[in-house]
Amino acid sequence: MATRTTGDPVIVRVTEEYHISEARQRARSMAEAIGFKPVTTFQIITSVSELGNNLLFHANHGGTITLAPLMQNNKVGIEIVAEDEGPGIEDVTLALQDGFSTNRGLGEGLPGIKRLMDELEITSTVGTGTLVITRKWKTCE
Ligand SMILES: Nc1ncnc2c1ncn2[C@@H]1O[C@H](COP(=O)(O)OP(=O)(O)OP(=O)(O)O)[C@@H](O)[C@H]1O
Ligand SMILES: [Mg+2]
Repeated sequence: MATRTTGDPVIVRVTEEYHISEARQRARSMAEAIGFKPVTTFQIITSVSELGNNLLFHANHGGTITLAPLMQNNKVGIEIVAEDEGPGIEDVTLALQDGFSTNRGLGEGLPGIKRLMDELEITSTVGTGTLVITRKWKTCE
């Protein structure tokens, strides 16, 4: 079924650490407005942090996080999109495995997002950039 956005997206450019706080705050407001439970709101915010950190640590000049309220049939949700023009991910399957990191991180960011959210799609081309789309639905709470 068609998924559509039901409100204006919020775009946060992430090139400095404090931009992640800004993205977290915007995500919190949007999640609360949609009516997610506090625990789910926290999961959404955590995912925003992980994506923001990946933009800072793995993409050369950062990137953008776009937040949007979603509607599909009768269910509502939220979409987080992280986009960058960094080096790209060579092996997305590997990047999703627990403990895989190319810069001595814990390698728990992307696997964590996969567990916390309902949908996760990663499209990446080496030398071009990375697009991560993740969604959480309210009915799945
Ligand atoms: N936006 C991105 N651009 C390029 N590579 C990325 C990007 N996001 C993730 N990666 C690659 O995927 C790997 C796994 O990412 P993940 O967030 O799971 O772990 P990490 O960032 O290395 O460590 P942690 O998030 O636990 O601090 C990274 O080490 C990096 O190689
Ligand atoms: Mg990470």
